[in-house]
Amino acid sequence: MLTIALPKGRIAKESLDIFSKIFDREFKFEGRGLIMEVGGFRFLNVRNQDVPTYVEHGSADLGIVGLDVIMEKGLDVIRLLDMRLGRCKISIGIKKGDELDWSRPNIKVATKMVNITKNYFASHAVGIEIIKLSGSIELAPLIGLSDIIVDIVETGNTMRENGLVVAEDIMDSSAHLIANRNSYYAKKREIISLYEELNRVVKNG
Ligand code: PRP
Repeated sequence: MLTIALPKGRIAKESLDIFSKIFDREFKFEGRGLIMEVGGFRFLNVRNQDVPTYVEHGSADLGIVGLDVIMEKGLDVIRLLDMRLGRCKISIGIKKGDELDWSRPNIKVATKMVNITKNYFASHAVGIEIIKLSGSIELAPLIGLSDIIVDIVETGNTMRENGLVVAEDIMDSSAHLIANRNSYYAKKREIISLYEELNRVVKNG
C-alpha cells in the first residue's frame, strides 16, 4: 500500500479527482475524516506546510505540495512530477505609488516565506530585515509594519483589493508530487507505475 499526504482544500480535491479518473472509482474524504483507504492507497488530509514533514519522516511515501513549500523548507525528498495544479507566483508586493530605494539598508519585508525571501535578496545584494508573519501578509505595508511583502499571488485579488502592486516576481509555483527517498527505492515499482498514470492524466488532461 502507498500512503499519500495531500494538502487540505482545493489541491486535495483536484488531486483526488485525478485519482478518480485513473482508477474509475470515487476518491473522497468523508466529512472531517483525515485518513482514507481506497483501492490500495491510503490518503492523509494534512495542512499544506505539513505535507513535507509526513514525507520526510516516511509516514507518507508520497505527497503533493507546492514548489514554494519545497524550496522554502529545502527538503530532502525526490521531486517526481509537476501536477500543474495550484499555479501561483511568489512575488514582491509594494503599495501602489510607493517608490523604493533598493540601495537603502534594511528594507523591511513581511513574509511567511523567510528562506525564499532571504535567498532572493541576498542574490541581489539587497539588505533586508525580515518580519515573519503567518498570514494576512498584505496588511503589513498598509499599517507601516513593513516596506514591502513577499507573498503568494494567485489571482492578484488580495493585493489589488489592498492597494498593493507586484514589484517583481521571484518564482513560479505549482503543486508537485514528491517521494520519500527510502520509499522510492523500497516501493519503486508501485511508485513508478502510479507516476506513469498520473503523468499521463496531467499531460493529457
Ligand atoms: C494566500 C496568499 C495571499 C492570497 C493570494 O493567502 O498569502 O494572501 O492567498 O491569492 P490571490 O492572489 O488569489 O488573492 P491565504 O488565502 O492562503 O491566506 P493567509 O496567507 O492570509 O493565511
